[in-house]
Amino acid sequence: MTPRLLRLGPTTRPAAHFLTGEELSADRLAGLLDRALELKAGPLASRVLVGRTVALMFERPSTRTRVSFETGVHELGGHPLVLRSGEMQLSRGESIRDTALVLSRHVAAIGIRTGPDEVVRELAANATVPVINMLTAAHHPCQALADLLTLREAFGRLDGLVLAYVGDGNNVARSLAILGALAGVEVRVAAPDGYQLDPVAGAVLTDDPLAAARGADALYTDVWVSMSDSDDEADARRRALAPYRLDQALLDAAKPSAVALHCLPAHPGEEITEAVLYGDRQRIWDQAENRRHAQKALLELLVAGTD
Ligand code: CP
Repeated sequence: MTPRLLRLGPTTRPAAHFLTGEELSADRLAGLLDRALELKAGPLASRVLVGRTVALMFERPSTRTRVSFETGVHELGGHPLVLRSGEMQLSRGESIRDTALVLSRHVAAIGIRTGPDEVVRELAANATVPVINMLTAAHHPCQALADLLTLREAFGRLDGLVLAYVGDGNNVARSLAILGALAGVEVRVAAPDGYQLDPVAGAVLTDDPLAAARGADALYTDVWVSMSDSDDEADARRRALAPYRLDQALLDAAKPSAVALHCLPAHPGEEITEAVLYGDRQRIWDQAENRRHAQKALLELLVAGTD
């Protein structure tokens, strides 16, 4: 089923969703990031969710996403309702369609972390409240919002920046490519054969991490073995991705002002060195905090239609 596109306005209109980031225009993304900075400066400035509940469905583990959504909904005056799939009737065969219809009668928005993107699309197609993708196999758009917010803070602008992602061309890389393009950021993805991102949103694809890093404003990496990858393929992944480690030499190839980013959780010594992870040039812990500020601005936009 095709989800409805982002449309804002009276509640009689179809719900707006945030599934891939492609629902946003460049202007709306810029406005959302402006608003996120305001909410970071004044965490209790918006009470848009007073008396309202946001369902947060987790079919996969999470630290940052759960904590940032729970605290963010609370700061907006609402109640975050965490639903683990094993505790829902979904685990006993109730359909996504029926789950969407029931949740829509109770909550102002639904966040979902799951595997297949089809699940999120089906939820959105049947929900009458906004659905937010909190991570799927192919997309992690909430992470990309926080990443762009972090770059805005670090450089005071986004247009014209170059971000080089090195490592597994995964859901995080895809969302960076989609939302980075909207923001005017050149996204380069360096990955080995078999781990390359599919062509998306004008991202520059290469297998050469040094070439990607040269002249970049930001270097970004993610774990080599994600929660969706099997133990059997872990060793092969580590071997293939070893040349793509984010270390000091790679940072030295980027601009002197370049920053290091990682969506976390990190495995120091694998995809990133400990020196870079905790060093002077990282903005990684800002990224983790910015999940909350960016998602609060997103919730405002989706639930209240606030620009
Ligand atoms: N980056 C991220 O999504 O972290 P969690 O898996 O801990 O939510």
